[in-house]
Amino acid sequence: MNTPSSPPGETPDQATGLAPSDVAHPRAIRSFVKRAGRTTLGQAKATAELGPRFVLPYRAAPLDLAEAFGRQAPTVLEIGFGMGDATAHIAELLPETNFLCCEVHEPGVGALLKQIGERGLANIRILAHDAVEVLDHMLPAWDAQQNPQGLAGIHIFFPDPWHKLRHHKRRLIQPPFVARLAQRLVPGGYLHCATDWEPYAQQMLQVLSGEPLLANTAADFAPRPHYRPDTKFERRGLKLGHGVWDLVFQRR
Ligand SMILES: C[S@@+](CC[C@H](N)C(=O)[O-])C[C@H]1O[C@@H](n2cnc3c(N)ncnc32)[C@H](O)[C@@H]1O
Repeated sequence: MNTPSSPPGETPDQATGLAPSDVAHPRAIRSFVKRAGRTTLGQAKATAELGPRFVLPYRAAPLDLAEAFGRQAPTVLEIGFGMGDATAHIAELLPETNFLCCEVHEPGVGALLKQIGERGLANIRILAHDAVEVLDHMLPAWDAQQNPQGLAGIHIFFPDPWHKLRHHKRRLIQPPFVARLAQRLVPGGYLHCATDWEPYAQQMLQVLSGEPLLANTAADFAPRPHYRPDTKFERRGLKLGHGVWDLVFQRR
Protein backbone atom coordinates (compact mmCIF):
# COMPACT_ATOMS: atom_id res chain seq x y z
CA MET A 1 0.00 0.00 0.00
CA ASN A 2 1.29 3.49 -0.77
CA THR A 3 2.07 5.69 2.18
CA PRO A 4 1.39 9.41 2.24
CA SER A 5 4.37 11.51 1.30
CA SER A 6 4.09 14.50 3.71
CA PRO A 7 6.94 14.96 6.16
CA PRO A 8 6.12 14.39 9.85
CA GLY A 9 3.56 16.80 11.25
CA GLU A 10 3.04 18.68 8.00
CA THR A 11 -0.18 19.38 6.16
CA PRO A 12 -1.80 16.59 4.14
CA ASP A 13 -0.42 15.71 0.77
CA GLN A 14 -2.01 18.17 -1.65
CA ALA A 15 -2.37 15.65 -4.44
CA THR A 16 -4.01 12.88 -2.46
CA GLY A 17 -5.51 14.64 0.55
CA LEU A 18 -4.13 11.86 2.76
CA ALA A 19 -3.13 12.78 6.29
CA PRO A 20 0.48 12.25 7.31
CA SER A 21 0.88 8.67 8.48
CA ASP A 22 2.78 9.50 11.67
CA VAL A 23 0.31 11.92 13.22
CA ALA A 24 -1.50 10.30 16.13
CA HIS A 25 -5.16 9.76 15.39
CA PRO A 26 -7.20 11.51 18.07
CA ARG A 27 -9.97 8.93 18.00
CA ALA A 28 -9.34 5.61 19.68
CA ILE A 29 -12.10 3.62 17.96
CA ARG A 30 -12.40 3.90 14.24
CA SER A 31 -15.05 2.53 11.93
CA PHE A 32 -12.41 1.10 9.58
CA VAL A 33 -9.10 -0.67 9.50
CA LYS A 34 -6.84 0.31 6.66
CA ARG A 35 -6.93 -2.61 4.25
CA ALA A 36 -3.89 -3.41 2.20
CA GLY A 37 -4.74 -3.22 -1.43
CA ARG A 38 -2.94 -2.98 -4.68
CA THR A 39 -3.39 0.20 -6.65
CA THR A 40 -3.58 -0.61 -10.35
CA LEU A 41 -1.66 1.36 -12.95
CA GLY A 42 -4.92 2.90 -14.18
CA GLN A 43 -5.83 4.01 -10.66
CA ALA A 44 -2.36 5.45 -10.07
CA LYS A 45 -2.52 7.33 -13.38
CA ALA A 46 -5.97 8.71 -12.52
CA THR A 47 -4.71 9.77 -9.07
CA ALA A 48 -1.72 11.59 -10.58
CA GLU A 49 -3.77 13.31 -13.27
CA LEU A 50 -7.07 13.98 -11.53
CA GLY A 51 -6.15 13.95 -7.83
CA PRO A 52 -5.08 17.60 -7.74
CA ARG A 53 -8.47 18.71 -9.10
CA PHE A 54 -10.86 16.29 -7.40
CA VAL A 55 -9.22 15.29 -4.09
CA LEU A 56 -9.55 17.91 -1.40
CA PRO A 57 -6.92 18.11 1.33
CA TYR A 58 -8.18 17.31 4.82
CA ARG A 59 -7.96 20.38 7.02
CA ALA A 60 -9.45 20.87 10.46
CA ALA A 61 -11.31 23.98 9.30
CA PRO A 62 -14.80 24.57 7.81
CA LEU A 63 -14.98 23.67 4.15
CA ASP A 64 -16.46 26.22 1.74
CA LEU A 65 -18.59 23.91 -0.41
CA ALA A 66 -19.25 26.51 -3.13
CA GLU A 67 -15.53 27.09 -3.50
CA ALA A 68 -14.70 23.36 -3.39
CA PHE A 69 -17.17 22.57 -6.19
CA GLY A 70 -16.89 25.84 -8.07
CA ARG A 71 -20.65 26.33 -7.87
CA GLN A 72 -23.62 26.61 -5.52
CA ALA A 73 -25.63 23.38 -5.60
CA PRO A 74 -27.22 20.98 -3.15
CA THR A 75 -24.47 18.81 -1.69
CA VAL A 76 -24.67 15.15 -0.69
CA LEU A 77 -22.04 13.65 1.59
CA GLU A 78 -21.12 10.01 0.97
CA ILE A 79 -19.31 8.04 3.68
CA GLY A 80 -17.25 5.02 2.62
CA PHE A 81 -17.70 4.80 -1.15
CA GLY A 82 -15.54 1.68 -1.52
CA MET A 83 -14.51 1.41 -5.17
CA GLY A 84 -16.94 4.21 -6.08
CA ASP A 85 -19.21 2.32 -8.49
CA ALA A 86 -22.45 3.54 -6.92
CA THR A 87 -20.97 7.01 -6.43
CA ALA A 88 -20.05 7.44 -10.09
CA HIS A 89 -23.40 6.06 -11.23
CA ILE A 90 -25.35 8.44 -8.98
CA ALA A 91 -23.19 11.47 -9.79
CA GLU A 92 -23.75 10.87 -13.50
CA LEU A 93 -27.48 10.46 -12.95
CA LEU A 94 -27.76 13.65 -10.85
CA PRO A 95 -25.43 16.23 -12.44
CA GLU A 96 -27.11 19.14 -10.63
CA THR A 97 -26.03 17.73 -7.25
CA ASN A 98 -22.57 18.00 -5.70
CA PHE A 99 -21.16 14.82 -4.14
CA LEU A 100 -18.60 15.12 -1.36
CA CYS A 101 -17.23 11.63 -0.95
CA CYS A 102 -15.10 10.19 1.86
CA GLU A 103 -13.07 7.00 1.68
CA VAL A 104 -9.91 5.89 3.43
CA HIS A 105 -9.08 2.97 1.10
CA GLU A 106 -6.50 4.30 -1.37
CA PRO A 107 -7.23 1.96 -4.30
CA GLY A 108 -10.89 2.98 -3.94
CA VAL A 109 -9.94 6.63 -4.27
CA GLY A 110 -7.96 5.80 -7.41
CA ALA A 111 -10.85 3.75 -8.77
CA LEU A 112 -13.33 6.60 -8.33
CA LEU A 113 -10.90 9.08 -9.91
CA LYS A 114 -10.63 6.72 -12.88
CA GLN A 115 -14.41 6.70 -13.23
CA ILE A 116 -14.52 10.49 -12.92
CA GLY A 117 -12.15 10.65 -15.89
CA GLU A 118 -13.94 8.00 -17.95
CA ARG A 119 -17.40 9.45 -17.38
CA GLY A 120 -16.33 13.11 -17.50
CA LEU A 121 -17.86 13.87 -14.09
CA ALA A 122 -17.46 17.36 -12.63
CA ASN A 123 -19.73 17.09 -9.57
CA ILE A 124 -17.59 14.90 -7.27
CA ARG A 125 -14.97 15.93 -4.73
CA ILE A 126 -13.11 13.34 -2.68
CA LEU A 127 -11.77 13.46 0.85
CA ALA A 128 -9.38 10.55 1.40
CA HIS A 129 -9.82 10.80 5.13
CA ASP A 130 -11.85 9.49 8.06
CA ALA A 131 -15.39 10.76 7.48
CA VAL A 132 -15.94 11.12 11.22
CA GLU A 133 -13.17 13.71 11.39
CA VAL A 134 -14.35 15.36 8.18
CA LEU A 135 -17.81 15.72 9.69
CA ASP A 136 -16.54 17.05 13.00
CA HIS A 137 -13.95 19.47 11.68
CA MET A 138 -14.90 20.46 8.12
CA LEU A 139 -18.69 20.43 8.06
CA PRO A 140 -20.30 22.65 10.71
CA ALA A 141 -23.87 22.03 11.85
CA TRP A 142 -26.58 23.70 9.77
CA ASP A 143 -27.98 26.91 11.19
CA ALA A 144 -30.36 29.24 9.35
CA GLN A 145 -28.46 32.37 10.43
CA GLN A 146 -24.94 31.30 11.34
CA ASN A 147 -24.40 28.53 8.81
CA PRO A 148 -27.05 28.22 6.11
CA GLN A 149 -24.71 25.95 4.12
CA GLY A 150 -25.78 22.45 5.05
CA LEU A 151 -26.02 19.04 3.44
CA ALA A 152 -28.92 18.12 1.18
CA GLY A 153 -28.32 14.45 1.84
CA ILE A 154 -26.02 11.82 3.28
CA HIS A 155 -25.34 8.39 1.72
CA ILE A 156 -23.95 5.51 3.76
CA PHE A 157 -24.14 2.40 1.62
CA PHE A 158 -23.14 -0.99 3.02
CA PRO A 159 -21.03 0.35 5.89
CA ASP A 160 -18.76 -2.27 7.44
CA PRO A 161 -21.12 -4.44 9.53
CA TRP A 162 -18.50 -5.38 12.16
CA HIS A 163 -20.16 -8.71 12.84
CA LYS A 164 -18.48 -9.61 16.13
CA LEU A 165 -20.02 -8.27 19.30
CA ARG A 166 -16.71 -6.89 20.55
CA HIS A 167 -16.42 -4.87 17.32
CA HIS A 168 -19.93 -3.40 17.39
CA LYS A 169 -18.46 -0.23 18.87
CA ARG A 170 -16.82 0.39 15.49
CA ARG A 171 -20.13 0.56 13.66
CA LEU A 172 -20.82 3.96 12.15
CA ILE A 173 -24.53 4.02 12.86
CA GLN A 174 -24.69 4.79 16.57
CA PRO A 175 -26.70 7.50 18.34
CA PRO A 176 -23.97 10.14 18.92
CA PHE A 177 -22.72 9.99 15.34
CA VAL A 178 -26.23 9.96 13.86
CA ALA A 179 -27.07 13.04 15.95
CA ARG A 180 -24.05 14.79 14.43
CA LEU A 181 -25.04 13.69 10.93
CA ALA A 182 -28.60 14.98 11.41
CA GLN A 183 -27.31 18.36 12.62
CA ARG A 184 -25.44 18.84 9.32
CA LEU A 185 -28.54 18.32 7.18
CA VAL A 186 -30.66 21.22 5.98
CA PRO A 187 -34.31 20.87 7.05
CA GLY A 188 -35.85 18.40 4.61
CA GLY A 189 -32.40 16.93 3.86
CA TYR A 190 -32.16 13.13 3.95
CA LEU A 191 -30.00 10.38 5.41
CA HIS A 192 -29.97 7.22 3.28
CA CYS A 193 -28.36 4.06 4.67
CA ALA A 194 -28.31 0.61 3.11
CA THR A 195 -27.04 -2.71 4.43
CA ASP A 196 -27.23 -6.41 3.62
CA TRP A 197 -26.67 -7.47 7.25
CA GLU A 198 -30.02 -7.85 8.98
CA PRO A 199 -28.89 -7.28 12.59
CA TYR A 200 -27.22 -4.06 11.48
CA ALA A 201 -30.37 -3.08 9.57
CA GLN A 202 -32.34 -3.48 12.79
CA GLN A 203 -29.77 -1.41 14.69
CA MET A 204 -29.97 1.29 12.01
CA LEU A 205 -33.75 1.36 12.26
CA GLN A 206 -33.61 1.66 16.03
CA VAL A 207 -30.90 4.34 16.08
CA LEU A 208 -32.33 6.48 13.28
CA SER A 209 -35.86 6.23 14.73
CA GLY A 210 -34.48 7.39 18.08
CA GLU A 211 -32.88 10.55 16.68
CA PRO A 212 -35.27 13.46 17.43
CA LEU A 213 -34.15 15.52 14.41
CA LEU A 214 -35.03 12.73 11.97
CA ALA A 215 -38.33 11.35 10.66
CA ASN A 216 -38.67 8.08 8.75
CA THR A 217 -39.94 8.47 5.17
CA ALA A 218 -41.35 4.93 5.35
CA ALA A 219 -43.13 2.78 7.94
CA ASP A 220 -39.81 1.04 8.64
CA PHE A 221 -37.49 0.06 5.77
CA ALA A 222 -37.79 2.05 2.55
CA PRO A 223 -38.02 0.85 -1.04
CA ARG A 224 -34.65 1.21 -2.80
CA PRO A 225 -34.51 4.81 -4.08
CA HIS A 226 -34.26 5.01 -7.88
CA TYR A 227 -30.76 6.51 -7.84
CA ARG A 228 -29.03 3.73 -5.87
CA PRO A 229 -27.74 0.96 -8.16
CA ASP A 230 -27.08 -2.48 -6.79
CA THR A 231 -23.47 -3.03 -5.76
CA LYS A 232 -21.30 -6.12 -5.53
CA PHE A 233 -22.10 -6.20 -1.80
CA GLU A 234 -25.78 -6.28 -2.61
CA ARG A 235 -25.41 -8.97 -5.25
CA ARG A 236 -23.27 -11.04 -2.89
CA GLY A 237 -25.78 -10.57 -0.08
CA LEU A 238 -28.68 -11.60 -2.27
CA LYS A 239 -26.75 -14.65 -3.50
CA LEU A 240 -26.19 -15.70 0.11
CA GLY A 241 -29.90 -15.48 0.65
CA HIS A 242 -29.63 -12.23 2.61
CA GLY A 243 -31.89 -9.32 2.01
CA VAL A 244 -30.93 -5.72 1.45
CA TRP A 245 -32.44 -2.99 3.59
CA ASP A 246 -32.64 0.71 2.73
CA LEU A 247 -33.45 3.35 5.32
CA VAL A 248 -34.34 6.89 4.26
CA PHE A 249 -34.90 9.43 7.01
CA GLN A 250 -35.47 13.17 6.63
CA ARG A 251 -34.48 16.06 8.84
CA ARG A 252 -37.58 17.60 10.39
C1 LIG B 1 -18.16 -2.45 3.16
S1 LIG B 1 -17.45 -1.15 2.29
C2 LIG B 1 -18.79 -0.54 1.27
C3 LIG B 1 -18.30 0.29 0.13
C4 LIG B 1 -19.40 0.93 -0.76
N1 LIG B 1 -20.24 1.86 -0.05
C5 LIG B 1 -20.24 -0.09 -1.46
O1 LIG B 1 -21.44 -0.14 -1.23
O2 LIG B 1 -19.68 -0.84 -2.26
C6 LIG B 1 -17.31 0.12 3.51
C7 LIG B 1 -16.29 1.17 3.16
O3 LIG B 1 -16.36 2.24 4.10
C8 LIG B 1 -15.05 2.75 4.31
N2 LIG B 1 -15.08 3.44 5.60
C9 LIG B 1 -15.40 2.91 6.80
N3 LIG B 1 -15.32 3.83 7.75
C10 LIG B 1 -14.96 4.99 7.15
C11 LIG B 1 -14.71 6.32 7.63
N4 LIG B 1 -14.84 6.61 8.92
N5 LIG B 1 -14.34 7.25 6.73
C12 LIG B 1 -14.21 6.93 5.41
N6 LIG B 1 -14.43 5.71 4.91
C13 LIG B 1 -14.79 4.75 5.77
C14 LIG B 1 -14.18 1.52 4.25
O4 LIG B 1 -12.84 1.84 3.91
C15 LIG B 1 -14.86 0.69 3.17
O5 LIG B 1 -14.29 0.92 1.91
